[in-house]
Amino acid sequence: MKIRSPIVSVLGHVDHGKTTLLDYIRGSTIADKEAGGITQHIGATEIPNDTIDEICGSFISALTIKDLIPGLFFIDTPGHAAFTSLRKRGGALADLAVLIVDVNDGFKPQTFEALNILKMYKTPFIVVANKIDMIFGWETHEGFSFKESFNQQAQSVKQALDTKVYEIVGTLHKEGFQSERFDRISDFASQISIIPISARSGEGIIEVLAMLLGLAQEYLTEQLEINEDAPAKGTVLEIKEETGLGLTVDSIIYDGVLRTNDEIALMTSNNEVLTTKIRSILRPLPLEEMRDSKKKFKKFDEVVAAAGIKIAAPNLDDVVSGSPLRVLNDEEDVEEEILKE
Ligand code: GTP
Ligand code: NA
Ligand code: MG
Repeated sequence: MKIRSPIVSVLGHVDHGKTTLLDYIRGSTIADKEAGGITQHIGATEIPNDTIDEICGSFISALTIKDLIPGLFFIDTPGHAAFTSLRKRGGALADLAVLIVDVNDGFKPQTFEALNILKMYKTPFIVVANKIDMIFGWETHEGFSFKESFNQQAQSVKQALDTKVYEIVGTLHKEGFQSERFDRISDFASQISIIPISARSGEGIIEVLAMLLGLAQEYLTEQLEINEDAPAKGTVLEIKEETGLGLTVDSIIYDGVLRTNDEIALMTSNNEVLTTKIRSILRPLPLEEMRDSKKKFKKFDEVVAAAGIKIAAPNLDDVVSGSPLRVLNDEEDVEEEILKE
């Protein structure tokens, strides 16, 4: 048995900082390049443990929690009101989620919507209270842990932050969740952690990564066990036309192995099962995002979960976004199974 990276969906209201948080982690600037500053697609990025180590340094090696889990597999979702279905897809896929809230703005309509999606799928999550650098008087310490930076703030600034954090605690309480600032939590099984961060300066991101790894290790290892030899299982995120490839499906593979020439089953918009044969599997390099740029894709003969990939194959015209993806094999009645999903 192998343990795959947990799929971590980042959800929240428009412009509360989802893409900027992922940009900080992968050292990219995708948020700056988006049309109108609005995310319009689901993005997927693998963050290997090496990168997490580089960001977290001694902070995380002291925790000795990362040995089993190869990294974190992040899904970026759009916060704009128009993209409810993409948020649902991101929520449905997630092993863990980050609910991001602009600490100065508090909960907004799509924050509540995202929370309801997490409730519906019973997805464990943490809350990230973003943009602490905008709190009046905050002194920025680039890349510091929250605790290190917090300890250096003036008393009035500390109080201002806590007032805002307790507003979030109050809102979550009304929604049926017990929560607390992460460093004051006594029981992680019953309380939701709130981690104050700045996605822009990186303050607190160390604790976000450590918390996600810790929760995955503590509560998810069974769910993350994959069979490297089993036929792949996945979900289609989007169908896209690509120059030179024709129609392709962007997918997340969450179990098993997928190979070129595999026969796969997918759903159509009429709820019918469609089968096709994989012509090629394309994968973004680690830290690159699937929706970012074609030249950063590499061709693979096979991929093992968890993986965000683009599949080129014939007859993809009627595939519906959100469709399950299964490799056809002799042992299982894949058509039955796929229709049940
Ligand atoms: P959608 O995907 O469109 O819902 O937005 P988003 O949640 O991905 O937010 P995005 O990362 O696009 O950030 C929105 C704006 O807030 C950008 O101008 C960011 O630079 C800014 N921003 C994000 N995080 C922070 C932060 O921690 N501090 C400050 N000062 N600005 C931030
Ligand atoms: Na935005
Ligand atoms: Mg975004």
